[in-house]
Amino acid sequence: MIIGIERLIYGVENVAESTRYFADFGLPLVEQADDSSLFILPEGSRIELLRLDSPRLPKSDLIGQGVRELVWGCNSQQSVDALVANLKTDREVRVDERGVAHFVADGGVAMGLVQFTRAPVVFAPDPVNAPFNTQRLNQTRKWRRRCFPKNIQHVVFGVKDHEAAGRFLCKRLGFRLSDVMRDYGVFLRCEGNNDHHQIFYAEADAKLEGLDGQPRFHHANFGVEDLDELMIGINYMERCGWPKSSVGLGRHRLSSGLFCYLPCPAGGQAEYGTDFDALDDNWIPRIYEIKFSFSVWLSVLPPFLMDEPAWDWCYHPDYLPGASKPVTRSALKK
Ligand SMILES: [Fe+2]
Repeated sequence: MIIGIERLIYGVENVAESTRYFADFGLPLVEQADDSSLFILPEGSRIELLRLDSPRLPKSDLIGQGVRELVWGCNSQQSVDALVANLKTDREVRVDERGVAHFVADGGVAMGLVQFTRAPVVFAPDPVNAPFNTQRLNQTRKWRRRCFPKNIQHVVFGVKDHEAAGRFLCKRLGFRLSDVMRDYGVFLRCEGNNDHHQIFYAEADAKLEGLDGQPRFHHANFGVEDLDELMIGINYMERCGWPKSSVGLGRHRLSSGLFCYLPCPAGGQAEYGTDFDALDDNWIPRIYEIKFSFSVWLSVLPPFLMDEPAWDWCYHPDYLPGASKPVTRSALKK
């Protein structure tokens, strides 16, 4: 089964600038050349930067800068082999010298599958005090100088038919539907991971900043320990001179995650994230209206959220007790 993201391969216009950005962002740089660089996160996942015209970037429907291939990590080679055998029934699959099986998913995103043993990573967030509720006595919170993300949490693409793209991942690669943003996209979780989602497929022509109707990368999210580490990362990036987020710090309602999106010279945005919901197969997916789903609060309110959104959500009818459980259906497009 798939346990998470093993590698994101970016196509970028300026490798040197993008490399400096991700190093400042807190990713460990392990290789750097004129036309490529490689970061390996503490969990063992990788961020690889290639020039946008590199022949090593696979062909797909994706255009522009950003992630041009997403490699999923599987818990065993047998699992890779089984998934590949299924994929080969209706598409080309190329296995490279490293054992990565490359293919193009429905929706037009280039993907790979490889055996992946995640290195153990320990997060130890400080206990939180509240008045008359002491969890930390005679003990300060951690003081940090830098933010160092330890894992790749999720990646987001705009695609031309998000329902079909999501259905492919569920039917062919064992993904679960986590939640739906009505008319905008689907959040999906791989079988061997309890984090709320590892991929969000947005409709390419959805009215979302960074999408323009074409299939393209939107953002990647990197996991940090807590709010303090997240804010120290934001402050450090600002001190380094990188552009600020347009909406600042926020907490999503859908997934509960604390987040900050930062513009990224490698394409799209790079997001710090922490404190997401954890799900298993007992979770009942929900359908949200976008404005209600986007945030519980934001440090910088954008114009579209100046009026408080209506509390517009419901459980997904296909997943309520007694319902049959197709992956997605046209009823999602209310
Ligand atoms: Fe995100």
